[in-house]
Amino acid sequence: MDSPFILRWGIMGTGNIAKTFTKDLLLSQKWQSDRTISHVVTAVASSSSMEKTRHFVNELRLSSACTNYDSYKFMVADPKVDVVYVATPHSHHFQHVMLALESGKHVLCEKPLTVNAYQARTLCEEARKRNLFLMEAMWTRFLPITSDVLEKIRRGQIGEVLRVVVDTSFGDDVEKTWGTQHRMLNRDLAGGALLDLGIYSLTWIFLCLYHALPESLRQAPSGIAAQMTLNHLTGADEASSILLTFPTSAPNDVPEWKSQAVALTNLRVSTDPDGKNSAGPAIRIQGTKGEIQLDGPSFRPERYRVISRCDGAEGQDIESVKVVDYPVPSEAKGMYWEADEVGRCLRDGKIQSQSLPWEEIIAVLEVMDEARRQGGLIYPEAIENASYSSY
Ligand SMILES: NC(=O)c1ccc[n+]([C@@H]2O[C@H](COP(=O)([O-])OP(=O)(O)OC[C@H]3O[C@@H](n4cnc5c(N)ncnc54)[C@H](OP(=O)(O)O)[C@@H]3O)[C@@H](O)[C@H]2O)c1
Repeated sequence: MDSPFILRWGIMGTGNIAKTFTKDLLLSQKWQSDRTISHVVTAVASSSSMEKTRHFVNELRLSSACTNYDSYKFMVADPKVDVVYVATPHSHHFQHVMLALESGKHVLCEKPLTVNAYQARTLCEEARKRNLFLMEAMWTRFLPITSDVLEKIRRGQIGEVLRVVVDTSFGDDVEKTWGTQHRMLNRDLAGGALLDLGIYSLTWIFLCLYHALPESLRQAPSGIAAQMTLNHLTGADEASSILLTFPTSAPNDVPEWKSQAVALTNLRVSTDPDGKNSAGPAIRIQGTKGEIQLDGPSFRPERYRVISRCDGAEGQDIESVKVVDYPVPSEAKGMYWEADEVGRCLRDGKIQSQSLPWEEIIAVLEVMDEARRQGGLIYPEAIENASYSSY
């Protein structure tokens, strides 16, 4: 076997998801998600203290070949780094991705790529200009279960898909869990349920009603109606519901048909209150020949059911439900699949992933922009603008 393509990562930020992602990178060898790609962490940077970096490196037992930084600016200049993983709050993604691109690094940036579509467009133009890879870390896209479901839709197993309903809701004691300063509800950090969780509901909707179609047939939603409940203390959304109409059906775009979707997210009520999926599926993908249901959470489903439509023929109901399981190893989160995609793209000289093209990332952000406009959620100008000045 040829030796694997080695990808050298620089981790920007030492918070929760940086830790989870880096752990998964280290596990990728063990689970051999893609034997042709090998991941190495060569640098870690905290913007606040060297102590945080050291703690991160020690806790994850990163090799001595990993350089510690207390500044993002110096980390992105490290020649031993090929790709930077940006794991800072949404509010800072635009600035931090630009910093990495400006230093000639490829970038995987946590979701949402930016606060709004305009910022995302600006980053994609910059990446194109510099011939650098850029992708939003929407890891759900790269789970094997997601590819399997997408393939089923494309093959027409449930007929023409006309409706998708997705709920990504946590059910927290909001005041106790998040307070007013945490990035989940702090408007200065682009807080709110939609950008943090609702994006997963939209991801599934776009996968089924946009991405499942051949590229030439993909169309953004023609209708968007949104309602938001804004938190009484911070003004960030604690609940958002979005109704969408797509001008197409999927996967064939039958000219007379359109499709509809409902994207839900809520911090106070839960998709899965008892943690056993008793409340039903988080995702329903409804087609003319049946339906695919996925148990939540929507960001990492591990089971789906295909329910075939019965036409009343004798004995048909016996095989009408097929259950398929995709368990993720308990010690992992399942983020190595997206990391492998970054490796494949860089190995093959691509600047964007066909599984998550820039145009689609921007189309999802445009829906969130419109939902925020209708819901009255305004972020400070300092985090909405796309002006960048070098560090
Ligand atoms: N894919 C997923 O499943 C998933 C899950 C959770 C979060 N996320 C995404 O990951 C991003 C980070 O979320 P998180 O939960 O990891 O947040 P977090 O625990 O608060 O960590 C964010 C880190 O960003 C750095 N940072 C830089 N500037 C900052 C500022 N002004 N305020 C606060 N932190 C700042 C800090 O690291 P240093 O001090 O070391 O620089 C901090 O530890 C968000 O965009 C979120 O949407 C994704």
